[in-house]
Amino acid sequence: MSRARAAIILAAGQGTRMKSELPKVLHVVGGRPLIDWSLAIAAELQSARTVAVLAANSEPVAVRVRAALGEGSIAIQNPPRGTGDAARAAAKAMAGFEGDVIVYFGDTPLVRPATLASMFEARARADIIMLGFRPADPTGYGRIVTDAAGGFIKNVEHKDASEEERKVTLCNAGPLVADAKVLFDLLGKLTDNNAQREFYLTDVPGLARAAGMKVAIVEASEAELLGVNSRAQLADAEAAFQKRARTEAMERGVTLIDPASTFFCYDTQIAPDVIIEPNVFFGPGVSIAKNSRIKAFSHVEGAEIGEGVQVGPFARLRPGAKLETGVKIGNFVEVKNATLGPKAQASHLAYIGDATVGARANLGAGTITCNYDGFGKYLTEIGEDAFIGSDTALVAPVKVGARATTGAGSVITKDVPDGTLAVARGQQKNLEGWSDRFRAKKQAEKDKK
Ligand code: UD1
Ligand code: CA
Repeated sequence: MSRARAAIILAAGQGTRMKSELPKVLHVVGGRPLIDWSLAIAAELQSARTVAVLAANSEPVAVRVRAALGEGSIAIQNPPRGTGDAARAAAKAMAGFEGDVIVYFGDTPLVRPATLASMFEARARADIIMLGFRPADPTGYGRIVTDAAGGFIKNVEHKDASEEERKVTLCNAGPLVADAKVLFDLLGKLTDNNAQREFYLTDVPGLARAAGMKVAIVEASEAELLGVNSRAQLADAEAAFQKRARTEAMERGVTLIDPASTFFCYDTQIAPDVIIEPNVFFGPGVSIAKNSRIKAFSHVEGAEIGEGVQVGPFARLRPGAKLETGVKIGNFVEVKNATLGPKAQASHLAYIGDATVGARANLGAGTITCNYDGFGKYLTEIGEDAFIGSDTALVAPVKVGARATTGAGSVITKDVPDGTLAVARGQQKNLEGWSDRFRAKKQAEKDKK
């Protein structure tokens, strides 16, 4: 029987290096705030009890934690006095838990749950499990000092390290696993005798070793262990996420013509044989079924895209856009909170907001759903096989029936019955010869000067 698992997420640091009014863990990687990455990790680890340690003034973070874990899942660390002190702050919320606890940082979003799971498994061979990695640039990270055989000797923070110790390439990624009782016993023994006058979580393995316990180190790749402390590291983490997402998409059978300019979100779902042209951005909540094509320079978020759909170039799909099989959305078309039935088309220059569009309906260039009067939002309903003439303004709430047609340039304010033509624009008047007379007169005036 494997032991019960619990998780402590540390997110009470001030994040001063971000130079931001926003708490560090609300900054976003891959379209998701860092705290949500951490909460998702705990869920994947099947943590029986998860506690997030937050600063006293972080209600916007607390809201997200409560939404995911419920009341009682938050411990407040006030004032913040280091990572060890933060872990200690979770003691009360962890009281009575028996099993292994993982402590990990809210600023390391890309760590793979499988990596952390392997730390729990490593508890079979040691008392304390650390996670190490070898970053290209170790500056700032704590170093793990080992003996010739790779056995753990001690941790030393960058700021406390000697010249010699700074040459160590094995760095501490942050996460640590131990039996709950052992962990809190050792946390109680920490001192703040160091460069930052903080209680370091990283001193726990050293204390364990001194007490005759065994410390083991699991190693993983830099791409999943980048810590976010500054805007530059935020960008590094984003780049690492995008690289991972692009690789995974291509492995699943998606064609990315230019992977480097295709931007994914943490939850983007794309089926095989979809083709993504260059310069496409996906926000949260996008799914795309097979054989669709997203053409260049499109911005897509909160959209459900069916099979064999074409979008773009230069299209914008906003939350609630649902495009059924074979829909065609062309250049400079925006769709928001609207369902387009099979094979419906809007090929150029249109705004379709708060609408339902029937199968095979055709929306001409310049079709606008006037869905907003400054106060409320209203629905436009367009029936199957309807033909909306170019430059039609549909003033919602309004219904255009099946097989109905609207004349180009119409402002439609009343429902149009099935099979009917609606024309709502000024009548054309032709004044014969007027233009020739006007031009002759003007030319004569000009010639006289
Ligand atoms: C920490 C580690 C370092 C490791 C690095 C990996 C310590 C002492 N150092 O350094 O060995 O290489 O992470 O990324 O653990 N936090 C609190 N309360 C506090 C201080 C921090 O909750 O009083 C939280 C922060 O919100 C953050 C995490 O703990 O999520 C790590 O703190 P941070 O200050 O970023 O530590 P690093 O200097 O990056
Ligand atoms: Ca950090």
